[in-house]
Amino acid sequence: MSEQPSSGSRPLLPDQIASWLRLVCFIAAALIVTAYAYLAVRQAPNEEAGRRQDQKTLRADNAKKGLALINEPGRNADGTYRIPVKDAAALIAADNQVVAKIQAAAAPAPAPAAPADVGPFVKASDEQMKRGLAVYARTCIACHQPTGMGLPPVFPPIANAPIVVGNPELPIKFILQGLMGPITVGGTTYNSMMPPVVGVTDGDIADVLTYVRQSFGNQGNPVSADQVKAVRAATAGRSAMWTTAELGLK
Ligand code: HEC
Repeated sequence: MSEQPSSGSRPLLPDQIASWLRLVCFIAAALIVTAYAYLAVRQAPNEEAGRRQDQKTLRADNAKKGLALINEPGRNADGTYRIPVKDAAALIAADNQVVAKIQAAAAPAPAPAAPADVGPFVKASDEQMKRGLAVYARTCIACHQPTGMGLPPVFPPIANAPIVVGNPELPIKFILQGLMGPITVGGTTYNSMMPPVVGVTDGDIADVLTYVRQSFGNQGNPVSADQVKAVRAATAGRSAMWTTAELGLK
């Protein structure tokens, strides 16, 4: 037999155009697959970056609110706050009932975190408590509030807070040099910063810590000026704020 008769139907497109079309389709498909793969790979890091951005915004926001609060009551020349002690005492007295209610409703305080502070409870002298209240009123009250309940989610409470009644070395450190970084108190996570508390002597820090350790429902033993002196000497060369991670706080 000679010539095979053609099957009759002529190709829909000339061969050359068909092969160009096949090439174009192939490239398009390859591009789509690559794009999907790229997006899949990028997705996770994008979410992470978003989270980081949220945190950044939150921190900037918190810092702004903190600064506004610091500036609001104004400062004395030595950097302490301009809140008269008698006003603070009145505020605290007026808020006592509120605190009692909040504490009654709150979950039981977790066990103190500090192995360094075990032992029988020793009640502070009325004198030291009075001095501590005066220091609290000029150095802590603007942020941690007369009630000790703080201002969530910017300033954490120091009522029912294990760090307050735990090893006093930690609060002494961050009263001296400041604190930043994420920290969870009473179920809320804070990520703001506590500036160093200025214009306070070793005795002032001992008194204010004793005051907060035996107020707002806290039960921690008194702190002495000698304990503060030792920490101040050990951290004398430091100017950077402590981070919560550095101090093992979460
Ligand atoms: C300008 C605001 C500000 C002042 C003033 C301030 N704090 Fe704080 N404090 C903070 C912030 C904010 C944090 C949380 C820091 C973080 O997010 O890492 C904090 C954390 C703490 C903590 C640990 C967390 C907790 O709630 O247990 C203690 C204890 C504490 N402060 C005690 C004090 C005492 C005592 C004083 C006064 C001597 C004081 N602070 C003054 C803002 C302040």
